[in-house]
Formats: sequence, structure tokens, C-alpha cells
Amino acid sequence: MATFAPPLQENQANHPPITAKKLLINNQWVDAESGKTFPTLNPSTGELICEVAEADKPDVERAVRAARKAFDGGPWRKMSGAERGRLMNRLADLIEANADDLARLESLDNGKPYNVARAADLKLTIACYRYYAGWADKQQGKTIPVNGNYFCYTRHEPVGVVGQIIPWNFPLLMQAWKLGPALATGNTVVMKPAEQTPLTALRVGELIVEAGFPEGVVNLLPGYGPTAGSAIAHHMDIDKVAFTGSTEVGHLIMKASAESNLKRVTLELGGKSPNIVFADADMDAAIEGSHFALFFNQGQCCCAGSRLFVEEKCYDEFVERSVARARRRTVGDPFDSRTEQGPQVDQDQLDKVLGYIRSGVSQGANLLCGGERVGDKGYFVAPTVFGDVQDNMTIAQEEIFGPVMSIIKFRDMNEVIQRANNTIYGLAAAVWTKDIGKAHAIANNVRAGTVWVNCYDVFDAAAPFGGFKQSGIGRELGEYGLQNYTEIKTVTVKL
Ligand code: NAI
Ligand code: MG
Repeated sequence: MATFAPPLQENQANHPPITAKKLLINNQWVDAESGKTFPTLNPSTGELICEVAEADKPDVERAVRAARKAFDGGPWRKMSGAERGRLMNRLADLIEANADDLARLESLDNGKPYNVARAADLKLTIACYRYYAGWADKQQGKTIPVNGNYFCYTRHEPVGVVGQIIPWNFPLLMQAWKLGPALATGNTVVMKPAEQTPLTALRVGELIVEAGFPEGVVNLLPGYGPTAGSAIAHHMDIDKVAFTGSTEVGHLIMKASAESNLKRVTLELGGKSPNIVFADADMDAAIEGSHFALFFNQGQCCCAGSRLFVEEKCYDEFVERSVARARRRTVGDPFDSRTEQGPQVDQDQLDKVLGYIRSGVSQGANLLCGGERVGDKGYFVAPTVFGDVQDNMTIAQEEIFGPVMSIIKFRDMNEVIQRANNTIYGLAAAVWTKDIGKAHAIANNVRAGTVWVNCYDVFDAAAPFGGFKQSGIGRELGEYGLQNYTEIKTVTVKL
């Protein structure tokens, strides 16, 4: 493994100006009612970046009132779809104009390499807002032939006030995935960014105000899950909640809906995605693609290819070359242009990942490289590869969310399909093969919301994403993503 010098002291050049540290309610930047703040840390050093206002239940109350007012009677309600789309396009333009600073801020707060944030996160974020801006004036129902002398038609109406709770692994992008369809369809929003990474969401809040969105349409409440997050999930006047994060908290969100007002729930949760390599695959592509599938974003991807099934016939070659590739992976300062991998997001995630590595060793998996923390400052983990992993080991069952590859041997197609499906999750899957029959057999029989063939992590705002089984409920992105944000109204007129 190539490791650079320990992360640099945050230098001035890498430290973008931080102007938004408060709550955004009704287009005003306000302190929490409690006056409390919480620290957001630089994961490369563990040091404080700044304090941010900490929302709790009373702030959720204020934000919901603002969002309700904007929904029921404000200018947003009367605005045409075309005008909403224009505001969203203006926001996309402002994000694009500020893309370098936003990427620096994302890198500083989350730890992902700056180059990756700039090339991937910002690009996809901007594209997502533009894609949904295009849908804003295309929300149309149907006319439906019914028995009798009636005229029947449907309207696609916004659900109302929407609560959105997002995670820290792609802060800007998850904000875009949530705001895009909600705003295009005319909802108002109370959003809680993750406590680990509030800064870019708040900076986008400034751009939302600058773009000219009316008061109360987007409210941003940085804060913790069990306080602000839970108050959103339980609120009687929030009509829908959209959540991305752990499956554990997904259960809590659903329960909160059942215990309150049956608000609509969409969930995008964890995964343990099978990535299946057949011996007839283009080996160079399969090895590099599987490396990317697991290690991208420090392994902190819900759809990471974290159960890597490799056909027996090519297993030894695949393992040897994958270990060599992992050893070459460069770990270090996210602002160093040579860096492929930055730190995990926080101490909790570092501890969790190291715990899974210990469990892999103690349950008898073969530790082939990595396995330890890098340095004693920040939350860096060495790229780790386990071979001879068995299906029942904890590292093959639970989401690790870190740079830990688990390679599992298989013999034939039917066996690998059955083993691939032997999980509580169903978010994504991939297959590497030159045989189109095998590719489609995997695509059709693996129970997962996304299947990649000879590629991985290919995302587009137009292509839906979401989980089967306990990986979630509903789809985000694309035309399908709009369905979660509208109510269908049937109107029947006697003629
Ligand atoms: P988490 O599910 O606790 O946090 C995600 C979001 O939910 C954050 O905004 C958090 O503040 C909020 N939240 C937490 N508890 C809540 C509650 N009781 N009510 C309402 N909102 C609540 O995830 P965490 O603790 O950051 O990470 C734990 C594990 O979850 C990770 O190791 C990973 O396995 C998984 N995860 C999956 C993600 C995905 O993209 N599907 C993203 C982040 C984490
Ligand atoms: Mg948590």
C-alpha cells in the first residue's frame, strides 16, 4: 500500500470560507432555540472545523410551521411548474459556479478526496437538479374512460410538507436526490443533514435563498438523529418522510410513522451487494472494476460490492491481482492529488470497520493485506482484502461500510445465484462475464434494485435506484422517483 505523509495540517488554501453554520428556517439563518451548537470535525485530523447550530424538537416545530405556511398559502403553491423548474435550474447554475469551493468543503467535512468530490459528487449533484428541473412542468395526470356519463381524470398533486433525513457519505448528492423530486413536484421540505457533514448542505441553503426560492420552501436543520431526526419522523404535520441511512434507523422511521400520522415513508438503506466474477470475464476490467466497486468513497457506499463472488477457475489469479491492486491504493491527505482514499468519516466508523476486520480474522477468513489503521491521527484505514471468506461469516453478512474486500469462491451459476440472494438486503449486484446468457441470468435472478453488467457504480439522474427487501422502500431518481412525492387525485364530473 502506498501511503503518503500523514495528512497535512489543514492549510488555508484547502479551507474554503464557511459562511453558513446556522439553521435555515423560512429563508432566515437562525440559532437553535436552545442556543446549542455541535462540532463538525475534519476526519483527516480529528480536529474541529467549526461549531454548527444544533436543531432539536422546537426547531423542527418552527421549520414545519414555515413549510406548512409555504405549502398552504405561499407563492410556492401558486407558482407554475415552469417557474419552479426555472428556480431549480438557477440553483444548479449557482452550484456549478461555486463547484470548486463546494468540492473543497465536501472534502474537508467528509474526508473524500477533493478530486473525486469535484469530478463525481459535484457533477452528479448539478445533473440531478437539472434533470428534476425538467420534470417540474411535466406533472400531468390522465383522462380515464369510466362507465356512465362521467368525465374522470387524475391530478398529480404534491404530498405536502416533506421531511428528509440524509446521511454523510455523499452529502451534496443525497441532498440533491431528495430535493430534486420533492421540489419539482411542488412539495415543501424540512431537511436534516447528517451531523457528521452539515457544511455543504448549509452552503447550498445559501444558494437556495440566492436563487430566489420563496420563504419556507426549503428548511435545513443540522442536528442529531435521536433528537431532530426523530422529531421529524414523529411529526403529526409532516406528510411524508424520506430517509437514507442504516437499516436499523430505517425500522425506527417506519415505526415513527405508524405511531404518528401514517406519513408516507420511503427508505434507502444498507446493502451487502453481490459482485459476481465469472472466469470468462475480461480480467483486467473485472479486477479494476471490483476494486472500484468496493473501495470507492473509502468503502462508504450503500451499494458497495462487498460480497465479491469469484469463480473457482479464476479465483487464484483474481485474488493475487486484487491484493496487488489494493496494496497500490494510495491513502492520505484528501487534498493531495495523488490520493485515492481519504479517512473514514468519523471515530465511530473507524472503530466499526476495525471491529469487522478483527471479526474476519477471528472467524478464520484469510487476511491478505491491510487490516490496520493508518497513522495515529485522523480516521484512516489501510485497504484490506480477505480471501477464503465463507457466506456465514459476519464480514459476509453485515454492512462494513469501509475499505474491506471479502472474496468468496463459487463453482457454478445456480449456486452463485442462490448464495447471492441469501441476504436480508437487495440493493445492488453486478456480474462480470463475456457470456450474454450468464449476464442476463444474473440480471434476472438476483433480487436487487440495480444490476450492473461489466461495470459498477454507474449512476445517472434518469436511472432509478433503490432496494429490494431490507435495503429499502421506493425508488429514487428518474421518473420513478417522482411517484414518492405526489398524491394521485381522481376527479369525476357528471356530464
Ligand atoms: P444512521 O442511519 O444513524 O444515520 C443516517 C441519518 O439518520 C443521519 O442524518 C442521522 O442523524 C439520522 N438518524 C439517526 N438516528 C435517527 C433516529 N432515531 N431518527 C431519525 N433520524 C435518525 O447511520 P450512521 O449511524 O451514520 O451509520 C451507521 C451505519 O449505517 C453505517 O456504518 C452504514 O453501515 C449505514 N449507512 C448507510 C448509508 C446508506 O447510504 N444507505 C449511509 C450512512 C450509513
Ligand atoms: Mg447512527
